[in-house]
Amino acid sequence: MPKDIKVLVCGAAGKMGQAVVRAVDSEAGFKLAGAVDRVGNPNIGKDIGLLCGINEIGVKLSGDLKETISKSQADVMVDFTMPEIVIVNAQMALKAGICTVIGTTGMTKSDIAELSKLSKQNSTGAIVAPNFAIGAVLMMKFAKEASKYFASAEIIEYHHDKKLDAPSGTAIKSAELMVENRKLFGRDTVSGKETIKGARGAIGDGNIHIHSVRLPGLIAHQEIILGGTGQTINIRHDAYDRTAFMPGVLMAVKKVMELDCLVYGLENII
Ligand SMILES: NC(=O)c1ccc[n+]([C@@H]2O[C@H](COP(=O)([O-])OP(=O)(O)OC[C@H]3O[C@@H](n4cnc5c(N)ncnc54)[C@H](O)[C@@H]3O)[C@@H](O)[C@H]2O)c1
Repeated sequence: MPKDIKVLVCGAAGKMGQAVVRAVDSEAGFKLAGAVDRVGNPNIGKDIGLLCGINEIGVKLSGDLKETISKSQADVMVDFTMPEIVIVNAQMALKAGICTVIGTTGMTKSDIAELSKLSKQNSTGAIVAPNFAIGAVLMMKFAKEASKYFASAEIIEYHHDKKLDAPSGTAIKSAELMVENRKLFGRDTVSGKETIKGARGAIGDGNIHIHSVRLPGLIAHQEIILGGTGQTINIRHDAYDRTAFMPGVLMAVKKVMELDCLVYGLENII
């Protein structure tokens, strides 16, 4: 019988981290080996299972990633933390030969390039995905295809009001994929001055305007609207619950063990 994949969750006390702990605990073939959050989190030392509203699982929340890496013998670290610290966490894991799955958004292209280099140097797999929901990956794929036929496009992304980065990693990644099929969108069709600065949104790759909505009650949603002569096409994805991301996270945890380099985007592993 194949051995369980031992998973260390970084950011385990957060909203996504807790969802990952529950998913790992309930899925055959995976075992929770470690749970880390920031030093000073009031729940350090408590059983992570109880904190996540499930049974006691015998893994205590730690505030020390370095120590947890050396003690847990984890195969894979999953990181859902914050843009400013994910790089340090990932560097620590990759240097220790632990495969790394990153869901944290807000990393720059140069951050990803740096991790890619480290992953190759250490022959240790890494997957970075701004969106682990399969439906969101399909939305991006359909938008990339539609970009061959529509010359104008805008993105509206909607997230909960606690989200730290804007625009979302998914919106940035969507524009990156769309420009693979059309270099420049809407160049000749958009005119008019902004009476209030920012009204037209931020300008992403390929001149695609990106609008970020932040409201309580939302989780993660996005619309890609493409416009052509006398018609528009609207491609939308809604994640109503954080469980939407879990099949993609578990798939990445399995897949990353077979890699010896960094892969960016879930679309490259499904
Ligand atoms: N890729 C995806 O599919 C996807 C989906 C949803 C959210 N996200 C991203 O995941 C990240 C986390 O989102 P969230 O909603 O769970 O946020 P959150 O604020 O609920 O959780 C972040 C956790 O990281 C912890 N943390 C802070 N510093 C730390 C450190 N030095 N070491 C370890 N843990 C530390 C925080 O204490 C907190 O518990 C964000 O970047 C968000 O955009 C990605």
